[in-house]
Amino acid sequence: MNIKKWQKQIVYQIYPRSFKDSNGDGIGDLKGIISKLDYIKDLGATAIWISPCFASPMKDGGYDISDYRSIDPIFGTNADMDELLLEAKKRDIGIILDLVVNHTSDQHVWFQEALKGKDNHYHDYYVWRKKANTLGSVFGGNAWEYVPALDEYYLHLFAKEQPDLNWENPKLREDIYEMMNYWLDKGVYGFRMDVIENLGKQPDLLITTNGEHLHEYLQEMHQKVYEGREAFSVGECWGADDHTRILYTDPDRKELNMVFQFSFFAQFWSQKNGKWNPSPFDLIKLKEVLFHKQITETKRSWNANFWDNHDLPRATISFCKGMDRKEASKMLFAISCFEQGTPFIYQGDEIGMGHPLFLKEEEIVDVEARNNLTCLRDQGFSKEDVFKMVSLNCRDNARTPFSWDSTKDGGFSTGTPWLKAPADYQTCNVEAEKNDETSVLSFFKKLIAFRQKEDILPLVLFGDFIPLAEDSPSSFSFLRVYKDQEIGFIANFSPSPITNPWEGKELLFGSVPEDRYIPSCGVLIYRLK
Ligand code: GLC
Ligand code: CA
Repeated sequence: MNIKKWQKQIVYQIYPRSFKDSNGDGIGDLKGIISKLDYIKDLGATAIWISPCFASPMKDGGYDISDYRSIDPIFGTNADMDELLLEAKKRDIGIILDLVVNHTSDQHVWFQEALKGKDNHYHDYYVWRKKANTLGSVFGGNAWEYVPALDEYYLHLFAKEQPDLNWENPKLREDIYEMMNYWLDKGVYGFRMDVIENLGKQPDLLITTNGEHLHEYLQEMHQKVYEGREAFSVGECWGADDHTRILYTDPDRKELNMVFQFSFFAQFWSQKNGKWNPSPFDLIKLKEVLFHKQITETKRSWNANFWDNHDLPRATISFCKGMDRKEASKMLFAISCFEQGTPFIYQGDEIGMGHPLFLKEEEIVDVEARNNLTCLRDQGFSKEDVFKMVSLNCRDNARTPFSWDSTKDGGFSTGTPWLKAPADYQTCNVEAEKNDETSVLSFFKKLIAFRQKEDILPLVLFGDFIPLAEDSPSSFSFLRVYKDQEIGFIANFSPSPITNPWEGKELLFGSVPEDRYIPSCGVLIYRLK
């Protein structure tokens, strides 16, 4: 089977504010990333997705862009981006930028022009109505903001400083494609496409995701941007299920390479208070979702395998109670690597990074969390309960400064970091792990090298996936079958030991030595045929 370049990537996600600060202002930057390219190369990642680093008032950590072609001064300069592209290329690492085109910042020149009046060329780049309806914003409150001077409301599915773009306008679409081509021409490898499922929104019908024209726009984008290029694309699609994934990623439809699906995580959100009040984790439910995804139409679609990103608390904490966090990190990544699809690593997973311990409200900075500190109080929760719900589940948990060593705040910056460091950075950091054969970091490297081997990769990418022990509350196990090869994967996704069903067979790879029992979080991979 001929493996395409995009299919064999191992993608490492960087949240640039928090990765490495090169100038002591407490904010990570592009020069910081450049200084760590060898680290990423050594890990075995082949591409880096960088969360937005464009000019932005930073109301939503850079997901509110005011100029798509300039690097924000807090991250560096356009020359730094050129240097990053050059240095990454030397190391054969692709740079994937974050494409935030469902909305802009309210400071973007298009929106500033749009505010000048209904006759302005850019007015129709945004979504305006005479009346607001009940549509809610993802970040809390109503999704419409009134502009008295125009006597109109504009749509913002996210913060009010993030007005939604009007994809029905062909001129807007042309401008976006031109911008995408600009970056690809500069040597960028591709895009992670922010809330791309919202492009076809029909706000009058209260439809935000999977709107009528969504796939038309994506096909047009493919034709005007991706066609004829060797570029990478992954869409962020909270509403995608195993069938709509095909619409996005069936190669014959010419839209995207792959999409992130979130139901494995969001299924634990509560009806009423969503992410702020999740129900208890249940391994059987998790497997139901992930296994279903793996056995549904994978020949006509492609999976993006991930546990963490800058929007989710770390899965080692949400899903692995009673287990050792570092061992859990190894286990989760092994699952991502042996499921069908492309594995994504979120910065810090490779050392088993944890959360900070927030002690007071003021330490929490994220816009969604801050809005909900108020919204949840308005619903009648006590101040203490709100603090608990928000501090444990907010996005800041994953956005902590990266822990490079055991010096102050983990060696991320010589200054004061913009956000609190993880609670145990003194013991959980790159320096402490890099020469330790048993560390999470060493495990990630060995696992990537093993998965990418010529005789394993085709099986992982194209083999059939056969779920095992679906009803077991402790194991995560499956077979991968390709031509005459068969591989058995078992992980102990529980705090107590389990029996090893394949003891004595040909062990190919493991996070623990082979034995009759597999300890908590242990992973073993066998050749069965
Ligand atoms: C995506 C991003 C998130 C951002 C939102 C609005 O979900 O991952 O960080 O807040 O879109 O752009
Ligand atoms: Ca800096």
